[in-house]
Amino acid sequence: MRKKYICGNWKMNKTPDEALVFAREINEKNLDDVDILIAAPFVDLDILKKNLNKNIKVAAQNVSEYSDGAYTGEISTTMLKSMEISDVIIGHSERREIYLEDDTTINNKVIHAIGEGLDVILCVGESLKTRENEEHFFHVKNQILEGLSNVEDIDKVTIAYEPIWAIGTGNTCSPEDAEKMCENIRNTIRERYKDAADKIRILYGGSVKPDNAAEILSKDDIDGVLVGGASLKVDDFVKIINYKENL
Ligand code: PGA
Repeated sequence: MRKKYICGNWKMNKTPDEALVFAREINEKNLDDVDILIAAPFVDLDILKKNLNKNIKVAAQNVSEYSDGAYTGEISTTMLKSMEISDVIIGHSERREIYLEDDTTINNKVIHAIGEGLDVILCVGESLKTRENEEHFFHVKNQILEGLSNVEDIDKVTIAYEPIWAIGTGNTCSPEDAEKMCENIRNTIRERYKDAADKIRILYGGSVKPDNAAEILSKDDIDGVLVGGASLKVDDFVKIINYKENL
């Protein structure tokens, strides 16, 4: 049985002071027994790590594919590890679309991060045009195969399926369509990694809110959610963590 995984992605939001307020507030809440993670801006990682209760993991939203050296503006796996950060999101659609990270760069980051002992949440997802052309299954399969090229240690990987047209738009993918894609992703993993497909967690992301989380999370092949906007408010994020109350 895969344990549900509720992940927040703050994107470029919250100063360290605001992160501290969030940490103190959420520490007071009763949280269901799910795995919980918050991916925060680099400047917030230390304060979260030191102040959040230990049952909430702290992750970076990006990491360099290089070890160290002349890479202005980048953050290395060594730096993350020195702060005891052991999880990182790689390949978020905003990294792909705005910062033009391609599958090769993303694959290099995944290989480097796993090689350095980090756990990776690899994001995939199609644009509206790709879905309208009915190429979404092919597109996502390709992103998975390329993103995981030469990756052996699949136990270090979580996949997040985030259709670009559903991110920050209020247009959630229907739970049925999300489930269908997550099932396809699991089949792709099975072709290459055999039984590990039963263990890997596949998340859905894109306009997940307190009022739709329970329906999404009740699907067999959806093992968790990656939540952007609704992870910024403690009350909303806690309602998603405690989604079973709405079943
Ligand atoms: P959203 O973002 O929940 O605000 O749509 C999800 C994400 O980009 O991870």
